[in-house]
Amino acid sequence: MIFSEFIFNSTKKTMEIVVSGIRPTGNLHLGNYFGALKNFISMQNEHDCYFFIADYHSLTTHPTPHDLHGNVKQVLVEYLAAGLDPEKATLYIQSDVPETAELYLFLNMNAYIGELERCTSFKDKIRQQPQNVNAGLLTYPTLMAADIIIHKATKVPVGKDQEQHLEMTRQFANRFNRLYNVDYFPEPQAYNFGKSLVRIPGLLGSGKMGKSEGEGNAIFLADEPAAIRKKVMRAVTDSGPTIPNQEKPETIQNLFQLMSVVSSKDAVNHFNDLYNNCQIRYGDMKKQLAEDMIRFTTPFRERIKELLSDEAYISKVARMGKEKARASAAKTIQEVREIIGFKSF
Ligand code: TYM
Repeated sequence: MIFSEFIFNSTKKTMEIVVSGIRPTGNLHLGNYFGALKNFISMQNEHDCYFFIADYHSLTTHPTPHDLHGNVKQVLVEYLAAGLDPEKATLYIQSDVPETAELYLFLNMNAYIGELERCTSFKDKIRQQPQNVNAGLLTYPTLMAADIIIHKATKVPVGKDQEQHLEMTRQFANRFNRLYNVDYFPEPQAYNFGKSLVRIPGLLGSGKMGKSEGEGNAIFLADEPAAIRKKVMRAVTDSGPTIPNQEKPETIQNLFQLMSVVSSKDAVNHFNDLYNNCQIRYGDMKKQLAEDMIRFTTPFRERIKELLSDEAYISKVARMGKEKARASAAKTIQEVREIIGFKSF
């Protein structure tokens, strides 16, 4: 072993383990970026990171094979375009690590219908897709727990909407430890550098930015400037404040929150002062917001375009990630099998 490898391997051992993933359901939006991806990038230098594309999870909505494959590629490309480095972090596709599915099966034996039915994301899905309430939706939190604990992670960078899933992950990990009387799985925590978890609002007035929250609600990293202008100019507002320093309604607060992540402090203060003096013109604010979003997303869009055609590099990254992720997952599964009592004769 050469000296630099020795240093790398010995520091790696002491680094905290980080796991997170994003479902391949289309292009990544600003919510994914500010809620998760931005932290993936800052954590990759000082942690032992596993970032994956949650393609098993996306099967709950029955994508066609063609769409599934295209979306997985798109997310991998967007991970790279955003600055994830396959030499620093393990970047992999969930279905390349079938050990995850085995751990999911084990955890399902120890997850109860009542707690799964009470999960907020499950209740939301029942409302959104009443014609397709499948078992995969119900057991979504056990699959997510398997993703996290298969690498024995302690930190999980995610947005606010994943908080309950993390609570359930801790529950499943602790329950496994108790059932088998072992101190095997650590307790993973949702992580945002000690700050509260992020929730980026959408453009349609209420609710978070998301792909399934309606056309025009999300700004994607790959969006062309014209699309961004169009969506921002259509964002929901109201007729404006009538009393100085009036409290902002949710739709307006959302615009300010979006501005706070892509615009300068001066710009935010400027429109905030105008709001407080009842002189704000939302059209001007939206123009500024759209231009700042374009400025912010342009480097991503350009890099995404470049990388999409580099098939050789994409498959190299996927292969490298698969190998590293499987080595870690196989070790856990072997130990878990022994703990459970599956021993070879
Ligand atoms: P997904 O694919 O819906 O979202 C991926 C990440 O983006 C964050 N996010 C947001 N953050 C702030 N504001 C928003 N509007 C917003 N929209 C999305 C999410 O919180 C998430 O961090 N179940 C997960 C994927 C997953 C996973 C895992 C995550 C599967 N296994 C294991 C962590 C660890 C999901 O559906 O995220």
